[in-house]
Amino acid sequence: MKILVTGGAGFIGSHTIDLLLAQGHTVRILDNLTPPVHLAGQWPDYLPSGVETILGDVRDRSAWEAALPGVEAVIHLAAYQDYLPDFSKFFHVNCVGAALLYEIIVEKRLPIQKIVVASSQASYGEGKYTCATGGVVYPGQRSESQLKARDWNVKCPKCGGPIQWELTPEDALVNPANAYGMSKFAEEMLAINLGKRYDIPTVGMRYSIVQGARQSFRNAYSGALRIFAMQTMAGQRPTVYEDGQQIRDFVYAGDVARANALALEDERANYQAFNVGGGKGITVEEFAKVMIRASGKTELTPNITGEYRFGDTRHIFSDVSKLRALGWEPTGSVEQNCREYLHWAATQRDFRNYASEAREYMQRVGAVRGSNDE
Ligand SMILES: NC(=O)c1ccc[n+]([C@@H]2O[C@H](COP(=O)([O-])OP(=O)(O)OC[C@H]3O[C@@H](n4cnc5c(N)ncnc54)[C@H](O)[C@@H]3O)[C@@H](O)[C@H]2O)c1
Repeated sequence: MKILVTGGAGFIGSHTIDLLLAQGHTVRILDNLTPPVHLAGQWPDYLPSGVETILGDVRDRSAWEAALPGVEAVIHLAAYQDYLPDFSKFFHVNCVGAALLYEIIVEKRLPIQKIVVASSQASYGEGKYTCATGGVVYPGQRSESQLKARDWNVKCPKCGGPIQWELTPEDALVNPANAYGMSKFAEEMLAINLGKRYDIPTVGMRYSIVQGARQSFRNAYSGALRIFAMQTMAGQRPTVYEDGQQIRDFVYAGDVARANALALEDERANYQAFNVGGGKGITVEEFAKVMIRASGKTELTPNITGEYRFGDTRHIFSDVSKLRALGWEPTGSVEQNCREYLHWAATQRDFRNYASEAREYMQRVGAVRGSNDE
């Protein structure tokens, strides 16, 4: 098959492309090489030869018109991410970009057989919890005054008491807490529903936090793997927000690539959303300790600052049984992810620690807040 991978110069895109090529597919990339992910205008060295590249922006109709002719399927990964407060940009890139894809396919009657769209675990916001008295509950966002008081845990929306996080399945309430999550869910919804309406088989992939080599170290606004790696390599303590007890699940980029390839080929996936997670929960503090061990800088300890990312979720852990039922299994471990990232980072000529300036910028624009600063 000839497959268009948007955002193919990026982290998940490049791993997906390696797998698609190994499976015998032909690939074309549409990517605008956006900074800070990329050095302006430079296609990354890790892209394999034999891949056709088109430099263009998914917000630009003419870029899609150049990229779509002749392809049979699209893996749409190009996106604006992170926690910065430029809200409109999330919707311009993520939603307008996806809407243009469907608009042009419908208008030009292009024979696209499948579209796989990158959605996100961020769609859920806080995800699923249970209350000892109220059963299943979906708590909303924690208030600023609660976070300022360093009262980190979400409370039962019915009784106000303590609640227990659960695995979050695809049919959980979707309630994104930040502009990124809202835009990714809107993108997924428009893709699946326009796909249904116009008979364009579409699958939404709700990735958990993805880890592995090639995650751009220049974009240090999110991603514990790259931030902790930069900090430990520079001999700094990894910065852990809140009290470090937040539960996350981290999924290996190679596993995500296999999930994308499966969604592309398996008709049972059509018109559905799937969680793509690591299958194991870990606290952020424990993850920082894993990175410290992997880096060999065992004199370091996590720096639990009590700061918080405004709009972050307390705990989120995706239930991957729906994708498992199609024959997919996550294989990566956080230890392996750390080792792989550190090894890759050490081979990058221009690798340096961008984490401090990213954190200072996030503090300045109010994306990272903390009672010590105020
Ligand atoms: N990395 C994660 O943990 C994670 C988790 C959930 C969802 N996702 C989603 O997976 C997808 C890929 O993420 P990634 O981690 O590989 O990110 P990445 O930043 O490494 O790659 C994204 C690519 O998209 C390109 N791009 C950005 N804006 C563009 C635009 N306007 N036009 C054309 N190209 C553009 C970038 O240049 C980059 O090459 C995104 O849709 C993201 O929302 C990622």
